[in-house]
Amino acid sequence: MQPRRKTILITGANRGIGLGLANKFLAHGHTVIATARNPDGARDLWALEHAYPGSFRILELDVTNASGLQHLRTALAGQAIDVLINNAGYLSNPGSGFAELAPDELHKSFAINATGPLLVTQSVLSNLQAAAQPIMVAISSKMGSIADNSSGGYYAYRMSKTALNMFVRSFSIDYPDITSVTLHPGWVKTDMGGAAAPTTVEESASGLFEVITKLKPVDSGRFIDFLGANVEW
Ligand SMILES: NC(=O)c1ccc[n+]([C@@H]2O[C@H](COP(=O)([O-])OP(=O)(O)OC[C@H]3O[C@@H](n4cnc5c(N)ncnc54)[C@H](OP(=O)(O)O)[C@@H]3O)[C@@H](O)[C@H]2O)c1
Repeated sequence: MQPRRKTILITGANRGIGLGLANKFLAHGHTVIATARNPDGARDLWALEHAYPGSFRILELDVTNASGLQHLRTALAGQAIDVLINNAGYLSNPGSGFAELAPDELHKSFAINATGPLLVTQSVLSNLQAAAQPIMVAISSKMGSIADNSSGGYYAYRMSKTALNMFVRSFSIDYPDITSVTLHPGWVKTDMGGAAAPTTVEESASGLFEVITKLKPVDSGRFIDFLGANVEW
């Protein structure tokens, strides 16, 4: 990615890693379009709009909502997107064992973690294709790595992230002009990661920023962690 000013679209940017990435790209002089399910309640995003007037835009988006996706398409019509970061994610009740898994939770996990990023990417495909060297990133997780799974459990989350990885891999083959990768952000201190996580949002966002801004077309189809190392599928 060349150092010139780019336009970055980030889903689920009102808190956690998405907010950290919005801060990072803005601080480096890029334009950020941040999506949130509830923009009115997204105080940190309004603070960013105040701090970076003209370089920041907030759009409402629930990645599982078809009319919301259509609205996104309309709101961004004709605008080139250099980098799409599919960040929004959901961790279904981690305490729930196999016997207690609820169908609704399984469906919700797939809708947010796997189908959602695919549909967002589909909605902004022409925006990515309008950019000179477009990049599509999915914030996945090592929890979606089959090779890394030595502890079991987390069916809904693990399965939905594995499906996300497969979407990105196929997309990277079908659209060779869009550099597409899945990224593991580390185990991060957010609402999802919890207080015991060893990595801060700042550390994760800094690492992800370095990885994303150094991506080259030859990287397409890779699964990479926030420190730049390959993750096994
Ligand atoms: N934290 C970790 O240790 C860790 C590790 C590996 C991977 N990840 C991945 O990193 C990404 C960010 O995680 P995080 O730790 O920052 O999580 P988080 O603090 O729980 O934030 C999740 C974000 O996703 C949004 N979101 C949830 N459902 C959505 C939907 N239906 N439509 C649109 N947005 C939705 C949330 O919006 P609301 O505020 O409206 O709920 C929020 O902005 C996720 O994909 C997660 O799976 C995290």
